[in-house]
Amino acid sequence: MSRAGVDWLAAMQTCRRVLDALDWRELGEIYFHWGGEGFWRERVPKVSTLGKALGQALLPRLPRGGSSLWVGAGVAELPVLLGEVMLHGRSVTAANLRARECELLNAGLQAVAPELPLRYQAGDARELAPGQVFDHLGCISVFTDPETWPVLSEVAYGRIAPVQIDVEKFVVEREQARALAKGLFARLQRPGLVTTSAEEVAWFLEQAAEVEASIEASEDLVETAVVGDPVGFLSVR
Ligand SMILES: C[S@@+](CC[C@H](N)C(=O)[O-])C[C@H]1O[C@@H](n2cnc3c(N)ncnc32)[C@H](O)[C@@H]1O
Repeated sequence: MSRAGVDWLAAMQTCRRVLDALDWRELGEIYFHWGGEGFWRERVPKVSTLGKALGQALLPRLPRGGSSLWVGAGVAELPVLLGEVMLHGRSVTAANLRARECELLNAGLQAVAPELPLRYQAGDARELAPGQVFDHLGCISVFTDPETWPVLSEVAYGRIAPVQIDVEKFVVEREQARALAKGLFARLQRPGLVTTSAEEVAWFLEQAAEVEASIEASEDLVETAVVGDPVGFLSVR
């Protein structure tokens, strides 16, 4: 239990109230273009249970009162973000390129917990909170995002045959993704922690090798509620 007497039960009550307050029709359109509201109706209980499982695995690895930079944070991250802020007194910068998604999530947070210092910010995570470094970087299913990097996504998930790859597009996307990994890694203090999905680990291994940092990966993996990628933790020194 946190010093302020807030435990996971209270954090998840807040989480469920925020989830209840969200506009699922619009969120459905943003995520899935069609049939989204129905998908969410099925998935929302998992957002709570898997998000809590991720938060319970993450918080013991993080110092109280530190700060996290979350890139590509959406609905799935809500329980973890609430856990960090409410239970661990941490500050959270949560970035997402989809401005409307940030507005919708923030409307839910504002309606339920206006006093809580947690809001999503629209924009490139590299550009938010300039000059600040973080002891934790959260990056779940970003380098595999089909909207941002269609070719990298198909390669990462093994959904394209080598003969079908548009190599020029692949190279362009890979350099953009490398630049993102570099920019994010530069915001992480050492020792630090990265929460990321198994498919994205190699982006951070490459950056660590460049600056001769060591990385130790956790054994345990937690499934995520929306994309379904397994997520684990990288300790960076
Ligand atoms: C596939 S979604 C994953 C969302 C969420 N993490 C999840 O697991 O459900 C990828 C997200 O990454 C965001 N994204 C991609 N590049 C980004 C960047 N440079 N800064 C912030 N967000 C970014 C996109 O806007 C998108 O919302």
